[in-house]
Amino acid sequence: MHTSGPNNHRHTVSLPPLAPLIDNYGREITYLRLAITDRCNLRCRYCMPERGVVPFLHEDTLSYEELERLVSLFQMLGVRKIRITGGEPFARRGCLEFIQRLMSRVGVEQLYLTTNGVETSRYLGSLKEIGISGINLSLDTLDKDRFKDITRRDRLDRVLVTLYQALELSIPLKINSVVTESTSDKEIINLGELPKNHAISLRFIEMMPFSGEKRLIPRSQDNLLDRLNRLFPSLQECQTDIISTARLFSTSGFRGTIGIIEGNSRKFCATCNKVRITSDGRMKSCLYDNGILNLKSMLRSGATDKAIISAIRQSINQRHVDGHATELICDRKEEPPMNRIGG
Ligand code: GTP
Ligand code: 5AD
Ligand code: SF4
Repeated sequence: MHTSGPNNHRHTVSLPPLAPLIDNYGREITYLRLAITDRCNLRCRYCMPERGVVPFLHEDTLSYEELERLVSLFQMLGVRKIRITGGEPFARRGCLEFIQRLMSRVGVEQLYLTTNGVETSRYLGSLKEIGISGINLSLDTLDKDRFKDITRRDRLDRVLVTLYQALELSIPLKINSVVTESTSDKEIINLGELPKNHAISLRFIEMMPFSGEKRLIPRSQDNLLDRLNRLFPSLQECQTDIISTARLFSTSGFRGTIGIIEGNSRKFCATCNKVRITSDGRMKSCLYDNGILNLKSMLRSGATDKAIISAIRQSINQRHVDGHATELICDRKEEPPMNRIGG
């Protein structure tokens, strides 16, 4: 067990697993999301304010060594799935090497990445080689002008290179498409060509209120599924025991699936198995809380593994029943924008 300062954490890997991390509603935490940076090469309207956000200083962001220490602690607590997010993960120098180190770590079997794909194509060969479990690619439209409007950058071509190279390399791929008020039926149908022709999952996502600007109040989106049913006749829901935010549907003639993520309606909280670490080292036990445990300050004040684990357990033992209940008690003025949370 780590006792004497932040540099001894490699000892933790050989420790036997501890009692699983189970919250006060009986939900077991097995999925860790790490936002390794708040920086991004796009400026999606629903994620970041127009002028961007003042990025955290280098020293405000957890170092890779600190992140690795946290990964080993969460592994001991039973985490089996890790997702690297941002901002854009590849906007941080050393991201590929960090992923390589995590992959070579004993016990890390499920390592995923969520990326916007702008710079990702050049890393795909290495990601394939190290056996990345899968990539979720953010792509809201196939229309060049609309892409530019949504992301405030003209980068669709580069994202498509990443998409098709990942398919060529047979890296398991999901597409995340946030549906906003300005998303047209035509855009949704065009995106539908992707799972029609390829074995990928295209997930349409309800927009959530985390733009870092004036609070986005998404219009009631209860009709997202109705809309998809209208645009893709004969959707059949896929039955699965796997815990997931997405509901997936097959439809005749399609190689892949179409999905919805009801992140604003928060219909999947009853099985929520996630914990998040923001780019400035706060642990969130719900997407809708403001960061309930300052892990960075614990790491930097020489806290032992035992103390950190105990603080994690205590926080997880005070979760709210769902994202609506969490949101009610949080001060929205403190709400971090999505690029700090990582989705
Ligand atoms: P898989 O592991 O492939 O199922 O992906 P994921 O949905 O866990 O992660 P991803 O980074 O691809 O996120 C897709 C969308 O789901 C984003 O809009 C996230 O903000 C949203 N999302 C992920 N987890 C949660 C959650 O626990 N609650 C809510 N409300 N939204 C979530
Ligand atoms: N609402 C819903 N999804 C969002 N994402 C970013 N901001 C929002 C938001 N306000 C998505 C991105 C990315 C994932 C990590 O989160 O599209 O795919
Ligand atoms: Fe960047 Fe992703 Fe946020 Fe878009 S959603 S600005 S790609 S971090």
